[in-house]
Amino acid sequence: MMILRTAALATLAIASVAPAVEVAEFGKTPGGEMTHVYTLENKSGMKVKLLDLGATLMAAEVPDKEGKTADVLFGFDDPAKYLSDDNQYFGNVVGRYGNRIAKGKFTLDGKEYTLATNNPPNHLHGGGDRALSKVVWKGEKSDADNSVTFSYTSPDGEEGYPGELKAQVTYTLTDDNAVRIEYEATTDKPTVLNLTNHAYFNLSGAGSPTINDHVVTLYADHYTPVDDTLITTGEIAKVEGTALDFREPHAIGDRVDSFGDAEGAGYDHNFVLNKTPSDVEGLHKAATVKDPKSGRVLTVLTDQPGVQFYGGNFLKGQTGKDGKTYAHRSGFCLETQHYPDSPNKPDFPSVVLRPGETYTHTCVYAFSAE
Ligand code: GAL
Repeated sequence: MMILRTAALATLAIASVAPAVEVAEFGKTPGGEMTHVYTLENKSGMKVKLLDLGATLMAAEVPDKEGKTADVLFGFDDPAKYLSDDNQYFGNVVGRYGNRIAKGKFTLDGKEYTLATNNPPNHLHGGGDRALSKVVWKGEKSDADNSVTFSYTSPDGEEGYPGELKAQVTYTLTDDNAVRIEYEATTDKPTVLNLTNHAYFNLSGAGSPTINDHVVTLYADHYTPVDDTLITTGEIAKVEGTALDFREPHAIGDRVDSFGDAEGAGYDHNFVLNKTPSDVEGLHKAATVKDPKSGRVLTVLTDQPGVQFYGGNFLKGQTGKDGKTYAHRSGFCLETQHYPDSPNKPDFPSVVLRPGETYTHTCVYAFSAE
């Protein structure tokens, strides 16, 4: 009897503890650096994979309304593809400045800085080979927290940005199927910073042909209009009466054709968040996306002022994990962030980080099914 009770207790104890975080080699970069994948699992049957190259969120196996899991994130099977010219930043942490800086120039404390114009004529997502999405971060796992912290020190002047930047990103998989991303950074010289995650989701499973049936709510009355090179004009405009009005839920496909079919056309806008309170202290709601087929729901919470809703307009059938193909507009990103080109827009919330200050940013991707 006693033995039976002890055995039952032991089973209970095992059931209530998430498995340890697993680490495995993912292969070497073309430059010869070894990369690693971390696999996190929780008690609710969800699994997440993280990669030290680009501090990347590379897979999320999420249950649908029947409890059947599918990987809803885009990614690649080998490090070289993550470093290829057309990698599209799948799941990467992008920066130092996520989004665009006009003509790759900004002035801080009277000094002009020049960055790569890797998205001509503008700077995009931190630049070239030493952008934060292209370097191997140092990973450290915590079994107790079911988390991994990636750290990277970017030398003063790397990719043209001033200051030695010490950055870290912690990914935690919670037992209620949320991925919590916490960024932190300090600098030794005044600099600009705007980190975000560039995960692409298809809630029917990555590789499914469309997101047109996904129903989106964005907690934003306003957005930041852009010119034809996708640089913000400085204006804060109402979404009312436009195809960007997602204050009430709309399927992505309902109005996407109104943007035309030129290369890159479609949803690719920064929304000014209303700061609608959420049930997580300190975080407001950015977006809710529902996939009627699988019943999967993604809720995005953050403490940032904006979110870039990008509908995968530059995807062109890249081959990703397990040979899956990522068709044009078959994945969406919700990049919690400051507004595009803020270093050149004095009226936008500041992106300046000074010595002695700590940059912090939290984004939660919470999954459920209904
Ligand atoms: C998004 C950006 C798009 C495109 C994409 C990468 O963050 O808003 O315009 O550049 O990244 O292909």
